[in-house]
Amino acid sequence: MHQTNSSKGNEFSGEIAMIVAADENNAIGKKGNLLCHLPNDLKHFKQITEHHTVVMGRKTFESLPKGALPNRKNIVMTSQKDAKFNDCIVCHSLDEVWKHCENEDKVFFIGGEQIYKLIIDKADTLHLTRIHHAFPDADTFFPAIDPNEWTLVEEKQQDADDRHPFDYTFFTYIRKKQTK
Ligand SMILES: NC(=O)c1ccc[n+]([C@@H]2O[C@H](COP(=O)([O-])OP(=O)(O)OC[C@H]3O[C@@H](n4cnc5c(N)ncnc54)[C@H](OP(=O)(O)O)[C@@H]3O)[C@@H](O)[C@H]2O)c1
Repeated sequence: MHQTNSSKGNEFSGEIAMIVAADENNAIGKKGNLLCHLPNDLKHFKQITEHHTVVMGRKTFESLPKGALPNRKNIVMTSQKDAKFNDCIVCHSLDEVWKHCENEDKVFFIGGEQIYKLIIDKADTLHLTRIHHAFPDADTFFPAIDPNEWTLVEEKQQDADDRHPFDYTFFTYIRKKQTK
């Protein structure tokens, strides 16, 4: 049975996971898009999130080249009351998200910056792809990862090749148990 983070109260009883690809400065995007194309990272993202629920901000949804992600329940967060997005559930608050996830054992928050900021203090798990490069002119960032809050449980290094311009590492962190 998954041990959830006590700070999130009774809002959601399952695992709250985040998944992100960030550069050495925690940058995640530029002008509404990802920083670079890493096919193996997209594969990794698909493997981890498929058949689960994914929650994203409206701007991230609008950046998806083919709209809603297949084989996943897509939830888009927006403040726009009448917004509709093809094949997505629209939510205006985290409380609304939890109502749509009552029967789920795990929910993935997939960005962007605003959504990571909203959820990081409640999250149980972080799947971080660290891109070993510093992109100039990035304009969106993942929040600082406090080493006192997270335990590294998995690490897999990947070398650059003709399809991947930079080295990158798949990290998995879980939140340290609260002692209070
Ligand atoms: N590297 C990665 O792993 C990764 C992953 C995802 C995204 N990204 C990148 O991140 C960038 C987008 O990030 P972003 O921070 O600009 O946008 P975002 O988080 O994707 O979306 C922001 C929007 O979400 C809605 N929103 C935010 N907080 C909300 C709340 N509490 N309640 C209801 N709605 C809320 C608002 O929509 P309305 O304005 O409609 O009200 C807001 O404008 C893009 O460049 C994208 O490519 C990178």
